[in-house]
Amino acid sequence: MVLSKLQITNFRNFSSSSFEFSPNLTLIIGENARGKTSLLEAVYASVYGTGFRESREIELILWDQDDCIVDGQFIDGDVKQRFQVQLLKTGETRVQKKFYVNKTIKSALQYRKNQMQAVLFAPEQIRIITGSPSRKRRYFDTVISSVDHAYKKSLRSYENALRRRNKVLEVYQNESDALRELSYWNALVVEHGMELTKKRASYIQFLNDHPHVEGKEFRIEYHPNNISMLVLSDVLSKELRFRRTLVGPQKDDFEIFLKGKQHNNVSLYGSRSEQRMAVFWLKLNELKLFEKDSKEKPLLLLDDIFSELDDHNRELVMKMIKDHQTIATTTEEDIQKIVQIPEVIIEL
Ligand SMILES: Nc1ncnc2c1ncn2[C@@H]1O[C@H](COP(=O)(O)OP(=O)(O)OP(=O)(O)O)[C@@H](O)[C@H]1O
Ligand SMILES: [Mg+2]
Repeated sequence: MVLSKLQITNFRNFSSSSFEFSPNLTLIIGENARGKTSLLEAVYASVYGTGFRESREIELILWDQDDCIVDGQFIDGDVKQRFQVQLLKTGETRVQKKFYVNKTIKSALQYRKNQMQAVLFAPEQIRIITGSPSRKRRYFDTVISSVDHAYKKSLRSYENALRRRNKVLEVYQNESDALRELSYWNALVVEHGMELTKKRASYIQFLNDHPHVEGKEFRIEYHPNNISMLVLSDVLSKELRFRRTLVGPQKDDFEIFLKGKQHNNVSLYGSRSEQRMAVFWLKLNELKLFEKDSKEKPLLLLDDIFSELDDHNRELVMKMIKDHQTIATTTEEDIQKIVQIPEVIIEL
């Protein structure tokens, strides 16, 4: 499937605009703050129904407006498919989302089942390597969820059960009262927590099965914080003192290593370019995962990555661009760094 057109209404700084895309390379160019990243984010939202920046979802809606719509036309063989996402403000910070495929309303899950995949590269993703364990977990959760809907459901159920469990621990101080109130939530956090751990481990195995990128070899270690009924009963008195859940996959961590070096933990000792290469390694594996999962090539979204490319990864990026429908943002100065000739240029 390829994206051919996108109509966006009240999304970020766009009140109403329409764009066409090449099945190969489309470049979005423009001065700072013209909306390059916002347009790329609209494409991402048309694929995943959500933005990719750290802000809350309500901030996708143009200031002072009540709703926004991204309306994408995709081509699947010779069939046209229309994917629409609408976000409606329902409170100070809350939004309701509506999904349509070919004008028929769908659940978020059905929408995703029909829709393609996209892989996003942005310079700030270096934080997957250098950032906190929670940022790493969020990254892996997003990747696994995009191919495994059951994982996404487990994640939601786990987070919800964990919240409720923490509430119980806040309120009850007596061990037997707490146990009575906890038993329902314990069963849920164990069931879903174990599922998350198992699937995270399996994705980490997939990464370790594909360790190479541009002559470098990476390795990732998964440090699960295992949850089980036994672990929960062992830790209960401590949890009652701390008044919160102390075990489970919300405490998992990951470490990435570059092979062939002594101090080779990339987050701690890697140079900027080694850390960037580690991001490329993860991203290439996202592409591989999506291709394996659906036999269909994902859409490649590149936000402002040309400014930071060195000779080493430039070739890699050009290869990826050749192989995928690509939408890339760039500034005027960096345009000559792109070897591939764009078929469509969107000037903002
Ligand atoms: N919800 C919103 N409503 C209106 N404007 C917004 C909203 N969210 C962001 N903006 C504004 O949209 C403008 C475009 O932002 P964007 O990040 O897309 O620019 P850009 O072209 O990628 O810039 P740069 O070259 O600096 O990366 C900014 O001025 C930003 O403040
Ligand atoms: Mg930008």
